[in-house]
Amino acid sequence: MKGKAYLVGAGPGRADLISVRGLALLRVADVVIYDRLIARELLDELRPQAERIFVGKRGFGPRTVQQEDINALLVERVGDGLQVVRLKGGDGFVFGRGGEECAALAAAGLPFEVVPGISAAVAAPAYAGIPVTHRGQASAFTVVAGFEDPTKDGSNTDWSAMANAPTLVVLMGVRSAAKICDALVARGRDPESPAAAIASASTIHQKVACSTVAGLPQAMEADGISAPAVLVFGDVVKLHDQLAWFAPEEGGRGFVPLGKPDQ
Ligand SMILES: C[S@@+](CC[C@H](N)C(=O)[O-])C[C@H]1O[C@@H](n2cnc3c(N)ncnc32)[C@H](O)[C@@H]1O
Repeated sequence: MKGKAYLVGAGPGRADLISVRGLALLRVADVVIYDRLIARELLDELRPQAERIFVGKRGFGPRTVQQEDINALLVERVGDGLQVVRLKGGDGFVFGRGGEECAALAAAGLPFEVVPGISAAVAAPAYAGIPVTHRGQASAFTVVAGFEDPTKDGSNTDWSAMANAPTLVVLMGVRSAAKICDALVARGRDPESPAAAIASASTIHQKVACSTVAGLPQAMEADGISAPAVLVFGDVVKLHDQLAWFAPEEGGRGFVPLGKPDQ
């Protein structure tokens, strides 16, 4: 059988937020190469003989797995004729380096399929009762990576544009939260406008801190917000008071089985 890679988005944290197709592929894979931010219950779905390879990265330290090694591993296993699921948190094409992995496979002349996942960019706000768009309040939303220091010269991000986004969602922004808030205010965002941080969305560990742009860093500290977390700026944050629906202690864990093919 010819090998193939499937870049599967695992969703934002809770196991059964994976797509039906993603789950079906997991259950038949020969090899699963997975990241840190995926629900561990998903690994229980693998065939016993499936090879499981953890390639989680944390930060940019020298001991983390290099992207080139992951690309090479994918090319090797698919080249060996295996069905390989590359399982990534959220959606593999949203700050997931999925494009680079597909490019490596394409360069090697190997087939791949992309199975989109539910990105934390929309799922974390949703689990906090914050719609990223809302009639009369926000007709657009912007998603940006916040790991880059907004005060450093030569930033790749146009923070002036970010300051004007109706809804701004920041991923990987916990460590730089104070600098991000300052940068937004310095470029014209109202310091008293609403802002929130949502950590470990959709899991039993979910926490939400709601405040203003100026008050967000302090609120995050007070509420114990740590990575992984998403920051949200915009009037839509106010809807949290009315629409917060998720009680982590009641429903954050567990996997609702969809029924295995042999059942
Ligand atoms: C490397 S990015 C990967 C994003 C992923 N591909 C996606 O589409 O959700 C990791 C960042 O996603 C966000 N994130 C992932 N899972 C999350 C969760 N359960 N709750 C809040 N934020 C999450 C955090 O901002 C985290 O730093």
